[in-house]
Amino acid sequence: MHSDLKKILFTEQQINSAVRKLGAQLSTEYVDKQPIVICVLKGAVLFMVDLVKRMEIPLEMDFMAISSYGDSSQSTGVVRILKDLDRPVEGRHVLIVEDIVDTGLTLAYLKETLLHRHASSVRVVALFDKPEGRKVEISIDYCGYTVPNDFIVGYGLDYAEKYRNLPYVGVLKPEVYCK
Ligand code: PRP
Repeated sequence: MHSDLKKILFTEQQINSAVRKLGAQLSTEYVDKQPIVICVLKGAVLFMVDLVKRMEIPLEMDFMAISSYGDSSQSTGVVRILKDLDRPVEGRHVLIVEDIVDTGLTLAYLKETLLHRHASSVRVVALFDKPEGRKVEISIDYCGYTVPNDFIVGYGLDYAEKYRNLPYVGVLKPEVYCK
């Protein structure tokens, strides 16, 4: 897999350092709030697992899987829920965990859905922000790193379901996805 990468963007150490920092910040912000921490499958799984280990407060974990309609490479903003949360969020503080925010359409849909269900608060922690991809304005409350508008894979991020298990993040060589 490594040879398919043009360059490494973030090493395992750099990712660990961002996750530690975010975990410490969230531990302070959510103390006594017992948040429901929601992982958006599948990309955010690795980040979620590492992040909650750094949040030294009581919390609950839940999982959601969504899919956008239409061409999978072009977000349309029309989203359908493939797996919903197990528990209600009404009256609860909710923290959405995302690996990356690109167009912002996934997050816009999720935030609206959870607020509609009367969560007390809905905030977002994203490891990576790709601001150049944005189609809708969306605020990321806690962010690890800003990334360029490249095809990046690793640490949960995939190309055709591959590369998610790389412990670091890199830019994919164009010849890999332009075959
Ligand atoms: C990725 C990522 C976010 C979303 C961000 O998920 O995990 O959920 O895209 O993109 P957006 O800001 O343009 O909406 P993807 O749909 O690729 O599914 P995956 O997590 O299973 O890889």
